[in-house]
Amino acid sequence: MSGTARRKVLLDTDPGVGIPGTDADDPIALLLALAHPALELVAVTTTFGNCPPDLAARCAGAVLAAAGRTDIPVAVGSPVPLSGELPPLLATQYAGTRGRPGRIPLPELDDVAVDMDAADLIIRTVRANPGEVTLIAIGGHTNLATALGRDPGIASLIAAIVFMGGALGLDATYGRGNITPVAECNIWNDPEAARLVFRSGIDLTMVSLDVTNPATGLVLTDEMLRGIDPGASRVAPLLLDICSTYLETPMFAWAGHSGCVLYDPLAVAIAADPAVGELQAMAVDVETRGELTIGQTVPVRDAPPNLRACVDVDGPVVVRSMLETILTL
Ligand code: RIB
Ligand code: CA
Repeated sequence: MSGTARRKVLLDTDPGVGIPGTDADDPIALLLALAHPALELVAVTTTFGNCPPDLAARCAGAVLAAAGRTDIPVAVGSPVPLSGELPPLLATQYAGTRGRPGRIPLPELDDVAVDMDAADLIIRTVRANPGEVTLIAIGGHTNLATALGRDPGIASLIAAIVFMGGALGLDATYGRGNITPVAECNIWNDPEAARLVFRSGIDLTMVSLDVTNPATGLVLTDEMLRGIDPGASRVAPLLLDICSTYLETPMFAWAGHSGCVLYDPLAVAIAADPAVGELQAMAVDVETRGELTIGQTVPVRDAPPNLRACVDVDGPVVVRSMLETILTL
């Protein structure tokens, strides 16, 4: 990329690092955002999801420290969705192992987080770089929606939002939902926030469960992990530790498949290069009230497209390329 400006990105994320029962993909996405030659990571904000957002900030801090990038600001997001009530399922999980550090040492919050919340850091970053910053959202959309509510003027200053979330039913097995039969967990975590983002008019790219699954081969396999030389990169030991914690206690056990599904890193890869996946314009909205369907992402008929959805990806090729890129750190 020498001579070409890198795309400025802010990563809104819910990383668990060494915390049993959390997905490995957020810290891997963070490593990819740091390593990708087409991207300049300018800020990190944390949201609830895999773990509470203050713990997530400490996890992000551990990844940034391993990569030697503690210069990048990290801000803690809201611990609850726009409704003000954490879903009871998450409250119960955060009272257990998903609410405290696991076996990988984490820095203290005071040593990691800046003195403003995630929404304010989003606003500050966008206003400081008008029209230049792509937001990559790989957790729920609470921080994004809060920032848009606090300062509606930033909507026209955000270059684009690329998010991992939702399920469109395009893949018969995986495109349905993971947290419920029809809802993907990032959207389910805060459906009202997601609806605000989906209806914001901002340039949106959706990376859903339809493409982030074992059927597309978007999996960091046991075999690939065994092939990583811990001395290959300063971040390789942490990457291996994170993946082994995940494999001991996966969040979602995919029948017949082992390895880490790289949901969130695909959003980063597409933010860096949209040609990584096949994109299709669509109209999609979010169910916010359904008794059985809350958090479902629903294609809307006879409406103008509000986003581009990734509908196909060559998973194994993309995963190998991500791994190679991360190991350049
Ligand atoms: O449904 C997949 C999403 O939720 C990803 O963002 C992953 O981190 C998981 O927790
Ligand atoms: Ca995530």
